[in-house]
Amino acid sequence: MTENILVTGGAGFIGAHVAKALAAAGMRPVVVDDLSSGHRTTVQWGPLVVADVRDQGALSAAFKRYQPAAVIHLAGLIAVGESVADPGRYYDNNLAGLLAVAEAMRGHDVDRIVFSGSASVYGDPDMTPIREDAPMRPGSPYAFSKFAGERFLDDYARAHGLRPLTLRYFNAAGSDRDGEIGESHDPETHLIPLAIDAALDVGPPLTIFGDNYPTADGSAIRDYVHVSDLARAHVAALNALDGDAPPRAINIGAGQGVSVLEIVAAVERISGRVVPRTTGPRRAGDSPSLVAATDLAETALGWRPEMSALQTVVETALKWRLKLATSAGGQRRVG
Ligand code: UFG
Repeated sequence: MTENILVTGGAGFIGAHVAKALAAAGMRPVVVDDLSSGHRTTVQWGPLVVADVRDQGALSAAFKRYQPAAVIHLAGLIAVGESVADPGRYYDNNLAGLLAVAEAMRGHDVDRIVFSGSASVYGDPDMTPIREDAPMRPGSPYAFSKFAGERFLDDYARAHGLRPLTLRYFNAAGSDRDGEIGESHDPETHLIPLAIDAALDVGPPLTIFGDNYPTADGSAIRDYVHVSDLARAHVAALNALDGDAPPRAINIGAGQGVSVLEIVAAVERISGRVVPRTTGPRRAGDSPSLVAATDLAETALGWRPEMSALQTVVETALKWRLKLATSAGGQRRVG
């Protein structure tokens, strides 16, 4: 029988790619999403339950109806800068959401949970690439909510036998190769779509947040992992949770650092257009450099990035942004 996997936040950018990867692996994603930032049209591989994850009653009904074998919990707020301005919203959504999901799991005897963690928990790391045992120094309410989520799951594992595995995402980027789904946040805050939209002249000039970081070109460095690679890691994580003593947290990144200015150069090269840009101050809560050590992902999950070369990341993102920009009447397509 096909297993149901409950995917909270499954109508979002990463969630939709996770749902597609689950379906490709023979599982049925049951999406729980309040559509506050996700899109109904991205839910293509299983049923959609429209509900806020903090809604215990709705969650319980979804567990009863679909009897999921495991949970992938992605629902949450994700913007570092926004979390600095409005911390309460972040703690409420991200921590109360996780609590409700964990309680529903307890109530329905579901014990496997893959949690969407974040590289931002490392803050400003002493060493790069960052290993999972590096100290965690969350530098923003968003990062702290992910850090606290990991601790929370540890406590539930100890007290209630929950089996959690946190994937610490580095920067999810790119788009589904088939062009079925892609990144469409409103407002968009992520570098690659903003740089592409500036190049295509469908968005404002890009502001480069900080040119005085202690990096080779002065701009901040991130590890951009293709969202389809990231999605596959969730399937591997579910399998690992069935094995012996899987690690509690695993980095998912490409293992390669790329600066903001290198992203701009790649977008210009691949689109053949100039990225209009200005330089502004650093964004509050941002780390200078976050690059993953990926050894644990390889040994514990048998996972390796396959589509995360910068060329592929930018090419697939560009294809999607072009589709958005040219869809009916210039209206933004959701996805
Ligand atoms: N940046 C700019 N200009 C912009 C937008 C971003 O210069 O208009 C810079 C940022 O300062 C940062 C880099 O581009 O140095 C990447 O920024 P993003 O907003 O695209 O992504 P973040 O690194 O802030 O955050 C993303 C996810 C988080 C996750 C983090 C992990 O949104 O959820 O990656 O590295 F925690």
